Amino acid sequence: MIDLADVRRVMERCEALAVHSEEQGRLTRRFATPALGAAVDEVAAWMRAAGMSVRRDNVGNLIGRYEAATTIDGEPTQARTLLLGSHLDSVRDAGRYDGPLGVLVALAVIEGLHAQARRLPLAIEVVAFADEEGLRYGTSYLGSKALAGAFDPTLLQRVDDDGVRMDEAIRAAGGDPAAIPADARSRDDLVGYCEAHIEQGPVLEAEGLPVGVVSAIAGQSRVTVTFEGTAGHAGTVPMALRRDALCAAAEFALAVEALARETPGLVATVGQLAVEPGASNVIPGRAVLSLDVRHQDDATRLRSRDQLRATVGRIAVDRRVVGQWDVVQEDNATPCDPALSGALDRAVASLGLPVRHLPSGAGHDAVVLAALCPMAMLFVRCRGGISHHPAESVTVEDVAVAVEALGRFVGEQ
Ligand code: GLV
Ligand code: MN
Ligand code: MN
Repeated sequence: MIDLADVRRVMERCEALAVHSEEQGRLTRRFATPALGAAVDEVAAWMRAAGMSVRRDNVGNLIGRYEAATTIDGEPTQARTLLLGSHLDSVRDAGRYDGPLGVLVALAVIEGLHAQARRLPLAIEVVAFADEEGLRYGTSYLGSKALAGAFDPTLLQRVDDDGVRMDEAIRAAGGDPAAIPADARSRDDLVGYCEAHIEQGPVLEAEGLPVGVVSAIAGQSRVTVTFEGTAGHAGTVPMALRRDALCAAAEFALAVEALARETPGLVATVGQLAVEPGASNVIPGRAVLSLDVRHQDDATRLRSRDQLRATVGRIAVDRRVVGQWDVVQEDNATPCDPALSGALDRAVASLGLPVRHLPSGAGHDAVVLAALCPMAMLFVRCRGGISHHPAESVTVEDVAVAVEALGRFVGEQ
């Protein structure tokens, strides 16, 4: 088993990376920001020290490569590469483990090899993806899409809350937006991609298990909904004559909750709401909200999404406001690769642990990578299933199991 001192270093590094934040006193690290750049620089230095060659692509992914042995038993090795990794961007007021843990567990595996001067028959690339959460531009997986050759250049025109266009942000972070398509990773030498990640749910904890093997990742729809009413004087416009955009948004948010409660397996969330003009004595004239709809079954998700679109129309008519529906992102449910997951199963079983398969309700870069190469994921138990919250917590013992399982998995490739 791996030395607990090495695993403590993984925990310390999760702490150290949390310092790189855009906000005082809480962790917020959006795509293409100086905070993300600082985290990338720190991880790059650790990668170099682990004997890896390091580069950063134009969208901002950090890629560390640990070369294969040139010969094994006198025979030249074939050009094969295994990808490991996760993301370094975060949500607003995030925990320390969603993303960084997967990068640092992968790095710990490489450090273990490097310490023994051991090279494998295949190269390993550890990727720290630049945008899994989509916090800055509403649409997620920008980093993995660039790597997988699926980056949509029209997204470069999107603006963030401060009016900064994505292409400007990428340039400011040191990338060339026009060169993103050329960064697409060839699939020819790829064996697969494996991501370790905290579970972000309560199943492993409830069953007393340190790790689990992911079976599939739920599909998701992300939509921006806008209600346009009429702003006016809060003291003079009678209630019957109002076209209050916030009341329309509030009715919609409750309809979202009601639909999800009555539809087994559906989760749906309004997580952002912006109200204009935004004064206590002005009737809201415009409300813009985010909608996030997820289900393991694509047909149920799409049916629910369409139902909610109809609800926007119904509320708009009832309240004499204008409702607008803009789809930001659609991802279908993504099964993990059975063969690659089987190798993870064996690695977990070799530690004397039961192999628990479980689906992921959260999205991961692995969704995008699945179109490039076989994909598998290892979940690590987290306290209370809490995630997207500063109270995210994992134990050093569970992280040790994850490092050991991933190391054994890598050794089997
Ligand atoms: C990523 O954390 C997501 O599932 O939204
Ligand atoms: Mn997340
Ligand atoms: Mn994540």
